[in-house]
Amino acid sequence: MAYNLLKGKKGIIFGALDHKSIAWKVAEKAHEEGAVFTLTNTPTAMRFGEINELAEKCNAEIIPADATSIDDIENLIQKSMEILGGKLDFILHSIGMSMNVRKKRVYNDLRYDYFMKTLDISSISFHKLLQTCYKFDAINEWGSVVALSYIAAQRVLYGYNDMADAKALLESVARSFGYIYGREKKIRVNTISQSPTRTTAGSGVKGVEGLLDFTERMSPLGNATADECADFTMVMFSDLSKKVTMQNIYHDGGFSSMGMSMRAMRQYNKSLDGISEDDI
Ligand SMILES: NC(=O)c1ccc[n+]([C@@H]2O[C@H](COP(=O)([O-])OP(=O)(O)OC[C@H]3O[C@@H](n4cnc5c(N)ncnc54)[C@H](O)[C@@H]3O)[C@@H](O)[C@H]2O)c1
Repeated sequence: MAYNLLKGKKGIIFGALDHKSIAWKVAEKAHEEGAVFTLTNTPTAMRFGEINELAEKCNAEIIPADATSIDDIENLIQKSMEILGGKLDFILHSIGMSMNVRKKRVYNDLRYDYFMKTLDISSISFHKLLQTCYKFDAINEWGSVVALSYIAAQRVLYGYNDMADAKALLESVARSFGYIYGREKKIRVNTISQSPTRTTAGSGVKGVEGLLDFTERMSPLGNATADECADFTMVMFSDLSKKVTMQNIYHDGGFSSMGMSMRAMRQYNKSLDGISEDDI
């Protein structure tokens, strides 16, 4: 059901790769809620071609950009304002990538060139985006910028690797820039910390199926889906959340406040059946 929450608003959505992407769902909902926006991703991601389908459905133009390139970001922001006919009201940063994860380099055996790339793509790109928008005065008063994060920024989750450091930095950038942007332009900057979700990036995490089962059992409301994340993002982009800024907001069915649940305990005890003291 649509509520016209973004009627008349203009934006940019980063990170829609395929129909599973969180950004894909955000674009669909933003269109339903009355927004106009441009879509962007890397030239490599464009080659998969699925984004054209989304662009057609949402009546949106695609502007390729590598989020680590200032030139690309400048071009993206200027072109978006030209196409949309004015300044922006919302931006979604939905980008993450680690070569260490891809190449199965564990956290105590990282390649540092990969590590730098992880940080550049997954976190510093957010600063580059905000700084470029600031330079061009590209966002309207009360505009809202959201990046997607994960609880590995606060807690150790096996296998998340250097992406944990990237998310910690991403959340810090949201706070630090949120202060400046709030103070000077009344623009909001937040991160949404989403449940593990079956997407291309999500599937790269080691043992993801076990993790999804664990977080589902631990969360009183169950894991949040990509669709539900998109719904919540609509609220964050809308005028209904005007005074929320510099926050990392958990959208995770309650997982972040749990220590042990009945459902997880039952499963854990089951796996201990038949194990003697000597085995432990
Ligand atoms: N899937 C999960 O379990 C989960 C949970 C919490 C947070 N997140 C975060 O949500 C965001 C979106 O991920 P997703 O799960 O939808 O996966 P996804 O693979 O669909 O999206 C990741 C996107 O990042 C883009 N990207 C990579 N390098 C880029 C670059 N240099 N410039 C521009 N774009 C680039 C990819 O092309 C892709 O579209 C990420 O920040 C991810 O860390 C995901």
